[in-house]
Amino acid sequence: MQLKIAVFASGGGSNFRAIVENAHAYKVALLVSNRSRIGALEIARHYSIPQFILNPAAFAVQDAYVERLLEALREYQVNFIALAGYLRKIPAPVVRAFRGRMVNIHPAMLPAFGGKGYYGMRVHEAVLKSGVQTTGATVHFVDEEYDRGPIILQRPVPVTAGDTPATLARRVLEMEHQLYPETLHLIATGRVHLSGRTITLKNSD
Ligand code: GRF
Repeated sequence: MQLKIAVFASGGGSNFRAIVENAHAYKVALLVSNRSRIGALEIARHYSIPQFILNPAAFAVQDAYVERLLEALREYQVNFIALAGYLRKIPAPVVRAFRGRMVNIHPAMLPAFGGKGYYGMRVHEAVLKSGVQTTGATVHFVDEEYDRGPIILQRPVPVTAGDTPATLARRVLEMEHQLYPETLHLIATGRVHLSGRTITLKNSD
């Protein structure tokens, strides 16, 4: 079955762009965002990818929000979700509906520098403060806990003398642009097997 991905983004959308530009084995069916006027929407327009803006704060009850979101995902025949800088917690019923079919990218080597409060520049600030010499990025399945789902792929990036959170963020982000499409390609070609919390990566043969 072809992977039809909804990318969820709240910001600049550079990972969204990388995912779209490398969509050989999978299809990007939808961009979901909780905010209007963000870079990711421009990119969706440029590549003629449908977009769905849904602000959770606009719903009085969470059930109605969840139902509207699941309905949109059904409408676009989405069978996989890739979170790319989406700054809202995914409601539990959506996590359940997409268990084993939802991934996230985090700009550090999880489980280090992950969890509640570790997002955006805060991650890179914490990395520099800790004095570690290597950071990186991680793509993992999403479960009910922040940044704790099974890890699929991660790749290191060196911390160099004189790095600021901004220079480090830029270097990690560049690497993310390779890592995320690569991981989705592996999933789309059936080479990632998830059983419970254990992941097996298969070769292409
Ligand atoms: C990336 O650093 C990603 O790891 C994190 O949010 C950032 C999104 O950047 N989850 P962009 O919007 O894809 O440029």
